[in-house]
Amino acid sequence: MTSEDREAPSRDNEATPPSRRSIRSFVIRGGRQTAAQERAMAELWPRYGVEFNAQPVDLDQLFGRQAPRMLEIGFGAGEALLAFAQAHPELDCIGVEVHKPGVGHLLLGAETAGLTNLRVICHDAVEVLQQQLAPASIQLIHIFFPDPWHKKRHHKRRLIQPELVELLARVLAVGGKLRLATDWEHYALQMREVIDASTSFTNDAADTGFVTRNEERPLTRFERRGHRLGHGVWDLSYTRIVTPSQ
Ligand SMILES: C[S@@+](CC[C@H](N)C(=O)[O-])C[C@H]1O[C@@H](n2cnc3c(N)ncnc32)[C@H](O)[C@@H]1O
Repeated sequence: MTSEDREAPSRDNEATPPSRRSIRSFVIRGGRQTAAQERAMAELWPRYGVEFNAQPVDLDQLFGRQAPRMLEIGFGAGEALLAFAQAHPELDCIGVEVHKPGVGHLLLGAETAGLTNLRVICHDAVEVLQQQLAPASIQLIHIFFPDPWHKKRHHKRRLIQPELVELLARVLAVGGKLRLATDWEHYALQMREVIDASTSFTNDAADTGFVTRNEERPLTRFERRGHRLGHGVWDLSYTRIVTPSQ
């Protein structure tokens, strides 16, 4: 699935009255769930799933403990999130993804690995950041290979925009990390420009603004496809700092 396949407007947006229409970073894809993914949604959602709610969720209650928390936005099939949650039992991990087959795939992996430090929200991450996560409740955010929306007229759909960066700053505790990766150079430059301009973040890279590949990031299906197409990959890392107004 490439983002080019998703350039048509979503039915969601079409159904929304013009005054309330927002530009979304995704189009709900019709991709069929496998029987195993369907079973995972039915049987494992009660264990790992968190329904979207416009009220801040109590994460201590959700995980049954106090621990540092990481959030992955747009986890796709969940390879990176699953590997991270397994490697870091000391952290609680929250994945947000709108694509149901991907959610089902992650749930199956979570069950096989017997994870207890993972929860999943199947909803627009923008609204989750705005409403469901409390300020400064997260210590680490991953956004790997967000849809690049190649065409110029679709750049407004890209997830990384100034408003989104401030939402990330809102939920990220001071000292927390924001890590991103993309295989699309134009988007990499936009990410760097937009996040560098925020007074809530400082770029962890000394010179170019890009860091070396994050060793913890497994090669996902999406990244492998980029390699086959001869794309480069750009990794970015930022630290949440105290903003002048704080
Ligand atoms: C290009 S894929 C990359 C998936 C994965 N991170 C990887 O590296 O393989 C981008 C994913 O972000 C999801 N996505 C886009 N906008 C989103 C949003 N606002 N909230 C939640 N998920 C979103 C899409 O459904 C898609 O699965």
